[in-house]
Amino acid sequence: MRAVKEYAYAKINLFLDVVAKREDGYHDIDTVMHTVSLCDELTLTVSGHAKRGVKLLIDGNKRLPSDGKNIAYAAAILFLDKLGIDDEITVKLVKRIPMSAGLAGGSADGAAVLRGMNRLYGKPLTEKMLLSLAEKLGSDLPFCLIGGVARCQGRGERMTRLSDTLALHTVIAVSDEFVSTPEAYSALDEKYFDGKSFLFGREEGANAMSRDINSGEFDPGKMYNIFEDVILGIRPGAARIKARLESLGAVRAQMSGSGPSVFGIFDSAERAKAARDILLSEGINAHYAASV
Ligand code: C5P
Repeated sequence: MRAVKEYAYAKINLFLDVVAKREDGYHDIDTVMHTVSLCDELTLTVSGHAKRGVKLLIDGNKRLPSDGKNIAYAAAILFLDKLGIDDEITVKLVKRIPMSAGLAGGSADGAAVLRGMNRLYGKPLTEKMLLSLAEKLGSDLPFCLIGGVARCQGRGERMTRLSDTLALHTVIAVSDEFVSTPEAYSALDEKYFDGKSFLFGREEGANAMSRDINSGEFDPGKMYNIFEDVILGIRPGAARIKARLESLGAVRAQMSGSGPSVFGIFDSAERAKAARDILLSEGINAHYAASV
C-alpha cells in the first residue's frame, strides 16, 4: 500500500506583537515566524475503503488525544469531507515537538496531514485551496503549511513570505510549566488594551526585521515577543531557561509564542549543541534546531 511521509516542522517567533483585539474574540498579531528542524514525522496510508474515518497512532507522547481533538485527525477528516472521499486513513505520528509550548506542534502536524493527504490522492487541491482548509483548522496552520520565513498578520492568516536564506542555529528549551494561550491573551489585554486599541504597536519593528531578512541579514537585537511581558514574571522556569541560555553563550534568547518554550540563537552549530548538552545534563528538555 502506498505510504506518504511528511515532516512537520516546529515554528519559532522571531518577532511577535499583538496589535488589536477583534470582535470575534481573537487578536490581530504581527509576527515573523520561522520553521526550524525540530520536527514530528507523519506517515499516511489509505487503510480501508467504503467508510470515511481516521486512525491516528501516536508514538512519543501519551498525553496527546488521538481523536477529533487532535488537529492531525481533524485535518484528515476535513480533507476527506472536502473531496467527498469515503476512505479510512491511518496516520502514524512520531511526536518530538513539545506540546502546548508555543512551537505550533499541533498546527505543524495538521498542516503536514493536509500536504500528505494531497500527495496521497494525486494533488487534487491547489496551494490556495489547501491554505483555505488550513485557515479553518487554526491560526498558525497557514504558515505551517508553507514554512520557511514569513511575516504573518491578522489572526496569522495574512502571510507575506520573506527570503528563506536564514541560517540560524538555535537551542529550544521548555520548562514543564503550563501556559494557557487564552489566559496569556487576557493578561495582555489587561496590561496593554485601553478599551479601544493596544497601547503600543510595534509595526516598525516588524517592518525592520522583514526588510533585514529580505536583504539576507538578521539582527538578533531586533527580536521581540510581547508575551514575555506577561508570562516570564509568572513562569519562573521559563525565565530561568532564558537567562541560562544567555549565560551559555546565546547571542539572544526569547520566548516563542505564548511560551513556555524559549529559544536561544547561537553563533554556530557547535556552540548551540554544547549548550543543549549542558541543559540536558541539568535535566532541562532541550533541542538543537537549525533553520529549514
Ligand atoms: O489558535 P489557537 O487555538 O491556539 O487559540 C487559542 C486561543 O487563544 C483562542 O481561543 C483565543 O482566545 C486566543 N487567540 C487570540 N488571538 C489569536 C490566536 C489565539 O486571541 N490570534
